[in-house]
Amino acid sequence: MRDNAVNSRMSSPTAAGDDPGDRFERLYAEAERGAAVVPWDRDTPHSLLAEWTDRARPDAAGRRALVVGCGFGRDAEHLARLGFATVAFDISPTAVRTARRRHAGSPVRYETADLLDPPDAWLDGFDLVLESMNVQALPAGIRARAIPAVGPLVAPGGTLLVIAAGRRDDEEEVEGPPWPLTRAELDAFAAGPLVPARTEEIIAPDGGLRWRAEFRRPA
Ligand SMILES: C[S@@+](CC[C@H](N)C(=O)[O-])C[C@H]1O[C@@H](n2cnc3c(N)ncnc32)[C@H](O)[C@@H]1O
Repeated sequence: MRDNAVNSRMSSPTAAGDDPGDRFERLYAEAERGAAVVPWDRDTPHSLLAEWTDRARPDAAGRRALVVGCGFGRDAEHLARLGFATVAFDISPTAVRTARRRHAGSPVRYETADLLDPPDAWLDGFDLVLESMNVQALPAGIRARAIPAVGPLVAPGGTLLVIAAGRRDDEEEVEGPPWPLTRAELDAFAAGPLVPARTEEIIAPDGGLRWRAEFRRPA
């Protein structure tokens, strides 16, 4: 990772004219001052992750998990409780600082990093990679780079789990963020050696579509 990767990303303009890293950092910093609420702040893991771990019962012993865009760490803490040696990262230094403070004593390693320029040591590095509700929050130009950046973090024999809001092909694009993912965008996670293993279409309590998709990297 370039030394200044996070800062340079956060100050550079995007196709949408508003750098998402900067936008998230501003929100987290306002929340730290009590001037804003982070809409996805929960002290429980995402329900679609909790359901999946209940059902799949992933073998966590001696396994490494990576949580992309971890926010305040709700999903990272869940995976750590299951026994994964868990690394969780976010582009927002304030989110990472808050996660460390909130989960003081946690075995999770919280890091500030940019999905678009991750540390080399993370490549091929994790038995389970979780991407939950992040890519949908990125404008199209960045999303197209973010989706193929996730797969290379999965180790041989490992799994990528993607949880995202979804949009059917016949549905109009909404004015985001978030911008729910099309099936083609979801399928694009199967980059490089990753192969799709299971894709679920779930109707959330709010009536919206959610994708939960597993991709495997052959050993
Ligand atoms: C909608 S929030 C979801 C947070 C978390 N996954 C959850 O469900 O609670 C999206 C998160 O992605 C992070 N993020 C955005 N761009 C990123 C990037 N390039 N690298 C790492 N994290 C990023 C944001 O800072 C934010 O915490």
